[in-house]
Amino acid sequence: MTTTLLTGIAELVTNDPSVGDGSPLGLLRDAALVVEDGHVAWVGPASRAPDADRRRDLGGRAVIPGFVDSHAHLIFAGDRAAEFAARMAGTRYDGGGIATTVAATRAAGDAELRASLGERIAEMRAQGTTTVEVKSGYGLTVADEVRALRLAGEVTPETTYLGAHVVPAGADRDDYVRLVTGEMLTACAPHARWIDVFCEPASPHAFDADEAGEILTAGRDAGLGLRVHGNQLSAGPGVRLAVELGAASVDHCTHLTDADVAALAGGDTVATLLPGVEFSTRSPYPDARRLLDAGVTVALATDCNPGSCYTSSMPLVVALAVREMRMTPAEALWAATAGGARALRRDDIGVVAPGRRADLAVLEAPSHLHIPYRPGVPLAHALDGLS
Ligand code: NIG
Ligand code: FE
Repeated sequence: MTTTLLTGIAELVTNDPSVGDGSPLGLLRDAALVVEDGHVAWVGPASRAPDADRRRDLGGRAVIPGFVDSHAHLIFAGDRAAEFAARMAGTRYDGGGIATTVAATRAAGDAELRASLGERIAEMRAQGTTTVEVKSGYGLTVADEVRALRLAGEVTPETTYLGAHVVPAGADRDDYVRLVTGEMLTACAPHARWIDVFCEPASPHAFDADEAGEILTAGRDAGLGLRVHGNQLSAGPGVRLAVELGAASVDHCTHLTDADVAALAGGDTVATLLPGVEFSTRSPYPDARRLLDAGVTVALATDCNPGSCYTSSMPLVVALAVREMRMTPAEALWAATAGGARALRRDDIGVVAPGRRADLAVLEAPSHLHIPYRPGVPLAHALDGLS
């Protein structure tokens, strides 16, 4: 097996507090690491680096764990730029535009969807993302949801069945919940790791607490892990339900009651914040400090989708979290890497330590501080070409 020694690392973010400066980021300066068979074999100061078959000098750049984008909707066709423009002129987001994407996605061929998915994944890697979760949810028929999950499975193991994105136009609400928890679930479960539901009584298109509870319970019984879109537009029941049912993550968390924060602090559900959505819908940002100060595990993700937030950029999300939500640069980077890994219940990624996957990103900068310090500058790239 070939070993590769990476040198010239001005700063290595390990997310392993047992090394380096002892902070949650586990920062090591003038570091080196050895990669073998796609995994980290050794981490430490460059002065003590062992020999390896190959050497690669990163020229004084910083290395971080690749971003873990634990929330994305990448299988879709069509364009909703006009909806974005209308929002910037004052229209409120309520999920109604999802129907436009559903129609365009159903009409698209497999080759078109596969090609655009590949482009979006490449766009993410080019910005430092090495793991991405991909949801269905723009098909909303048995065949179209299965198709989306098959395509998602070609690019990631983190596939999420989101038949319960909205009640499709023209469908009876109760009939549709029966379909999502019955025939559609049976057909989709073999292709999915997770089930998700847009739980939002404030949207006429999404699902209320009873419906969401029924959908998540059926998914759990079919062997799927649970994720929830909750508390995006109102302090609704999504967070409470997610914690009660032991969901891995509840995402958005924009409007929270004290009871929601207490429930998150007492449970093992990650709160995933998606500040790109607040940016792109011109909405108030979630209160990250309130969650962090209560001891809640916070993750950051893009929610990349054609409606509420069409960015694939984790560096932008980190910059928004720091500037708009008062997370420290260290908290934001941890949330975008180790936090995302927690939200996906993965312990092989998000941390740079022996035995973990060598899913790394390199920065065209000497320090992780440059991610929020230089917003909009393409500094981060996934590190390719490792054995
Ligand atoms: O996470 N909230 C529901 N779903 C997506 C938006 C989907 C869309 O508008 O197309 C979200 O924001
Ligand atoms: Fe989403």
